[in-house]
Amino acid sequence: MLHFNFHNSTKIFFGEGQIAAIANNIPQDAKVLVTYGGGSIKQNGVYDQVCAALANHSWTEFAGIEPNPQYDTLMKAVEQVKAQGITYILAVGGGSVVDGTKFIAAAAHYEGGDPWDILAARGKVKSAVPMSCVLTLPATGSESNIGAVISRGTTKLDFLSPHVRPLFAVLDPKVTLTLSERQVANGVVDAFVHVMEQYLTYPVNAKVQDRFSEGLLLNLIEEGPKALATPGDLEVRANIMWSATMALNGLIGVGVPQDWTTHMIGHELTGHYGIDHARTLSIVLPAVMKVQREQKRAKLLQYAARVWDLHEGDEDAMIDLAIAKTEAFFSQMGVPVRLSEVDLDQAAAEVIVDSLVAHGMTTLGEQRDITPEVSRQILQTAL
Ligand code: NZQ
Ligand code: ZN
Repeated sequence: MLHFNFHNSTKIFFGEGQIAAIANNIPQDAKVLVTYGGGSIKQNGVYDQVCAALANHSWTEFAGIEPNPQYDTLMKAVEQVKAQGITYILAVGGGSVVDGTKFIAAAAHYEGGDPWDILAARGKVKSAVPMSCVLTLPATGSESNIGAVISRGTTKLDFLSPHVRPLFAVLDPKVTLTLSERQVANGVVDAFVHVMEQYLTYPVNAKVQDRFSEGLLLNLIEEGPKALATPGDLEVRANIMWSATMALNGLIGVGVPQDWTTHMIGHELTGHYGIDHARTLSIVLPAVMKVQREQKRAKLLQYAARVWDLHEGDEDAMIDLAIAKTEAFFSQMGVPVRLSEVDLDQAAAEVIVDSLVAHGMTTLGEQRDITPEVSRQILQTAL
């Protein structure tokens, strides 16, 4: 196992009715900004619950953070934070609202020039407005991690800073019942791929991380289809919600090599063609498994045995079957597994390779061996 430091300070309030906990966990004297997206929270009662919990606080709001949050939108919120002397931000929504709010919180304190540099030039975030969140879509893990992904035009980049880790996160599975089938599926698949990015590399004898990862994968394979078949089942939603948080809260990623190739290529596909984040991952991951099969061989065999219960026969056949089963799971969740399913072809693959180069993504993967040529191969395999 590799050396690591582990610290996750986000306090989790899990379960039905927990939005009320906001009242006692945001300082009474704070000037609060509530941020949210396109209005789903007004239709499903979440907004009303937040208003009730903030009845004794001084607060204003910023609405309209879009999926794959855009820099220009977020900068308007930064102006509001500065103009109103906001001292605390509460994000209410999915990963986009939480990520967007992380950027707002960091940009409002940023003194290094244009806050876009936080992403484009890896500008150091030295402090941020304290923030917390009410999560309405289990998927990204953003509710208790230090990452955020922000878009500007067709460019989609991420940044990491411990200053933007939410102080607390409310996870009420009941609020996820209003998600569309598409968003439920996206969330399950995103969480699944987060685990794979941290698990499917090479063995370092990290048994806790491996077994936790395999447990999360098994849960998602088991509960994901149930969430589509019986959408009103709150127990299923609860298990998916906690799985998604655990998939990217840092725990399974400590002390192990990590890949993230699928995500980096996926972000380009979203940036250029507007494909939902999870749907880029379901297309790219199987191709990464195929192209990197020798580098990932030992872990692919472990994955085949422990996640898909494949123990017999030729090793290569077991790997093939494990990849096929992964694709079948994605298809069962209703997400695409080929570029052709989202009407993209070879020309798009070239656009993505050029964009990866432009963004410096030229040595991806746990071995840093995914050059633009290998990325091209991955995209061609995904056609
Ligand atoms: O905007 P509203 O009206 O709220 O509607 C949203 C949005 O249209 C809707 N929604 C959310 N909760 C709902 C709901 N509709 C009904 N009922 C509810 N309870 O769902 C739509 C999609 O929301 P979004 O926040 O965009 O989805 P998700 O949570 O999948 O977030 C995706 C973003 O997170 C980034 C992605 O790149 C993408 O930009 N990621 C962030 C990560 C991180 N911070 O660690 C890691 C991930 O890999 C990912 O890259
Ligand atoms: Zn993701």
